[in-house]
Amino acid sequence: MPPMATYTCAPSAVACSVSVQAGSMGKGFYVSKAVGIVLVIVGAAALATIIALSVVYSQEKAKNTQVSPTDGGPTSKPPVTTPTPSNEPWDKYRLPKSLMPHYYNLTLWPRLTEDPNTKLYIFTGESTVEFECLEDTNLILIHSNRLNYTTLTNGQLALLSAVSSGVEAPTITTSRLQTVTQYLVLQLDRNLVKGQLYRVYTKFTGELADDLGGFYRSEYEEDGVRKVVATTQMQPTDARKAFPCFDEPAMKATFDISLIHDPGTVALSNGRELETTNINMEGKNLHKTVFERTEKMSTYLLAFIVSDYDFINSTIDDVLIRIYARKPAIAAGQGAYALNKTGPILKFFEKYYNSSYPLPKSDQIALPDFNAGAMENWGLITYRETALLYDEAFSSNSNKERIATIIAHELAHMWFGNLVTLRWWNDLWLNEGFASYVEYLGAHEAEPDWNVKELIVLGDVQRVFAVDALASSHPLSSKEEDIQKPAQISELFDAISYSKGASVLRMLSDFLTEEVFTKGLQTYLAEFAFGNAVYTDLWKHLQMAVDATGTDLPASVHDIMNTWVLQMGFPVVTVNTQSGEVSQQHFLLDPDSNVTTESPFGYQWIVPIRWMKSGMVQSQKWLEVKSNTFAEMKVSGEDWLLANLNTVGYYRVNYDAANWDRLLKVLRTNHSAILRINRAQLMDDAFNLARAKVIPTVLALNTTKYLISERDYMPWKSALNNLDFFYLMFDRSEVYGYMQDYLRKQVTPLFQYYKTMTGNWSKVPEGHMDQYNQVDAISLACRTGLKECQDLVQSWFKQWMDTDTNTIHPNLRSTVYCNAIAAGGTVEWNFAWKKFKEASIATEAEKLRAALACTTQPWLLNRYLEYTLEPTMIRKQDATSTIVYIASNVIGQSLAWDFVRARWSYIFTQYGGGSFSFSNLINGVTKRFASEFELQQLRQFKADNAEVGFGSGTLAVDQSIERTVANIKWIAENRDNVLNWFKDANKEPGL
Ligand code: BES
Ligand code: ZN
Repeated sequence: MPPMATYTCAPSAVACSVSVQAGSMGKGFYVSKAVGIVLVIVGAAALATIIALSVVYSQEKAKNTQVSPTDGGPTSKPPVTTPTPSNEPWDKYRLPKSLMPHYYNLTLWPRLTEDPNTKLYIFTGESTVEFECLEDTNLILIHSNRLNYTTLTNGQLALLSAVSSGVEAPTITTSRLQTVTQYLVLQLDRNLVKGQLYRVYTKFTGELADDLGGFYRSEYEEDGVRKVVATTQMQPTDARKAFPCFDEPAMKATFDISLIHDPGTVALSNGRELETTNINMEGKNLHKTVFERTEKMSTYLLAFIVSDYDFINSTIDDVLIRIYARKPAIAAGQGAYALNKTGPILKFFEKYYNSSYPLPKSDQIALPDFNAGAMENWGLITYRETALLYDEAFSSNSNKERIATIIAHELAHMWFGNLVTLRWWNDLWLNEGFASYVEYLGAHEAEPDWNVKELIVLGDVQRVFAVDALASSHPLSSKEEDIQKPAQISELFDAISYSKGASVLRMLSDFLTEEVFTKGLQTYLAEFAFGNAVYTDLWKHLQMAVDATGTDLPASVHDIMNTWVLQMGFPVVTVNTQSGEVSQQHFLLDPDSNVTTESPFGYQWIVPIRWMKSGMVQSQKWLEVKSNTFAEMKVSGEDWLLANLNTVGYYRVNYDAANWDRLLKVLRTNHSAILRINRAQLMDDAFNLARAKVIPTVLALNTTKYLISERDYMPWKSALNNLDFFYLMFDRSEVYGYMQDYLRKQVTPLFQYYKTMTGNWSKVPEGHMDQYNQVDAISLACRTGLKECQDLVQSWFKQWMDTDTNTIHPNLRSTVYCNAIAAGGTVEWNFAWKKFKEASIATEAEKLRAALACTTQPWLLNRYLEYTLEPTMIRKQDATSTIVYIASNVIGQSLAWDFVRARWSYIFTQYGGGSFSFSNLINGVTKRFASEFELQQLRQFKADNAEVGFGSGTLAVDQSIERTVANIKWIAENRDNVLNWFKDANKEPGL
């Protein structure tokens, strides 16, 4: 193809510039004389394109960057674009149903060096998409975002042809970009014919920006040399930023992918590498790697990566498993743990799903810059470094567990999500909720001694109870038509989808039994393999399994599950052990809040109840109505009743006062009679019931008295999570001192217990849970001012500073660093900052980054806040979490809030409307809010930024307002009681 005129027209650019661009990509290595001349022209043409691009991108950037990081505030706001209401197909966010892609042939060439003139990194590409016409139409819409197209021989941005030789394709009359809805729009002179196959060819350029979305670049330093990785993050709607495509999950197709890259670099994609050949482009000797054609798959699961990484590999039953990472990380053996665990986890899921892994290879790669934790691209899973790389000398048991669970989570998606994909994003909760449930099963397989399966109660059930108890919560399931725009899709990646999804699926698997659950799951996957489904398809298959096995249920799977899926929130089940009456009520953290969302079931659920009487497990009951009486649930004498065994049910439980008393007595006298998870749950329920004014706050506080003799992790952690609320509410008030005294008294025996167990802190406890609990014991002991603890951790840190040798065990590092930095000053902070910058493994950097927020010096905190918006100091992927760390510090809280308020517009535009940490950011900086003044500020913040928007944090703003209102009331009502309770408790003797 000869070089040709290029009509470089960026998305939404006012002026488009004309230049000349290279011919077809991917020529052979041999360069004839004629081609040589062409190449010279091509080189010049490429330069012209880059210049044109740079103009366009600087216009784009100027539009996006209204406020600079240092200019102090949202002085100017982006223009509001109110899309004119229109019924034109290109104004709708969903693709018309007239065309269905079958196959793409795609070649991409990312440049890993910047253009010296424009300082831009770019990629170029060529694509052919073959699609079927399902309904006659004279319009072709293909998703495209921020791509610039070369004008082709027909004077248009695309060429159209028919696949069958006897058919003549219509002519493209106009081609343009619709930027709001992100389409390439091709208008034809006549209709495409139903049943026929056509091809669209395009040639395009995009920026390889450091924006963590689409085809983007990640940078790192190795031996003082800056290195660049070109990588992708497509989910949910950024494949269209890498190439023009039908970017909806149900538009599955096969893909032939080729990547052009420099010799010495490695190219990876979803399929296996078929061959790498030498080619010459723009006068450069390059490689072209061609990948095996993919299975039929969704665009959001594609991945393209060029790096100079190294890898380790193994094979398991003909599946090639590789772990890729920066060369020094591989050389240090940091990929070994992931490699060792991937095989067994993969095998586990093959059995669980009764379906063999559908691809010949499974690559996993660790990236220095990555927005989420990991992404399940089919056959090429991408990770944050901390989520994949393990080094015994640096990584804690918690880091290790995260690696095992996150691998399990992403591998679970290879079937559930990738092989069978939900039709549209409104069902995202099923995809993510499912993976978030079975990740515990997969991790258990990898580490059977850890008991990880019980951790779902802390990590998901209790976590999401806190959010789902707000009137501003939302149901798991959304209507397809309510989810249209990319921002609406991004907003779905929240705790409800992940953790409530996981919790209700765990409950479902429990009441069906795992055998029935997996049976239904297996036939579901078999029926929809390589296709799409909706959540009710899974219910249908589970029902088939129920019917086949004669499982006894009070209603159909569909009817039971709809009560959990279609209405927000969850019930509190109240058991009156005097009368046997069991009733349910929508649990609201703030009973005065206004629930405006109507429920199709009037906030009633079909509730499975597993329970025990004085330690004896009884047969399951179902509460299908508002209130029912079960004679078996009456209790007399010394007997006690405990419901919701192991917190398998997604609900809280309340009892009559007499039963609460008996439960408290069991806790104090013989706590192991109550299951470990339920000891944790009793405290969580009590504290939250108290917040909702269902039971007195002192009753909740009373549940913590037995902790003085508790040695298990789960109950302690649950207590700490709940007491954290007390810290947030009271650490600026008189209550604080009394509370500290009480907790120090409670934790001292635990601290001594671990001191003995570890031979005066010289060994690591054997059990995984004990390792966690040891850390918590040290944290709380130091936090509450136990001198022995503070001296201990400060001496460890000092030794590190003095000798420059770090002998602190990785499990303890986070808490030791934090306490030492809090107790220290500038010298300690600067030492830790230096170590942070030098860290050769991300997990170590992560621990230091969190600990740096623990300082009590306001000026250091303010400087640290400034660093969060400088990518050379703090990586973009870590900006929001660093701000949240600072806000968690009582001194940093108001500084972080002021900072976020002042820079919202900048943060929002620079740190991506598509990132899912915005809700964390907003919740994080406002979680301590408990005064009228703070409420007013929060409302003002919402009003001031209404035009800029909050993207995926929109809901979080309302949740924060609701939480603040509840906190204000709670403090007013509870402060005195709580103060007195701590005073009294401190008078009681310790153990
Ligand atoms: N599909 C997600 C990654 C993702 C999240 C993409 C948000 C786009 C937006 C992936 O499967 C995932 O859920 N990752 C989790 C890890 C998991 C262990 C909860 C993550 O990134 O935190
Ligand atoms: Zn996931």
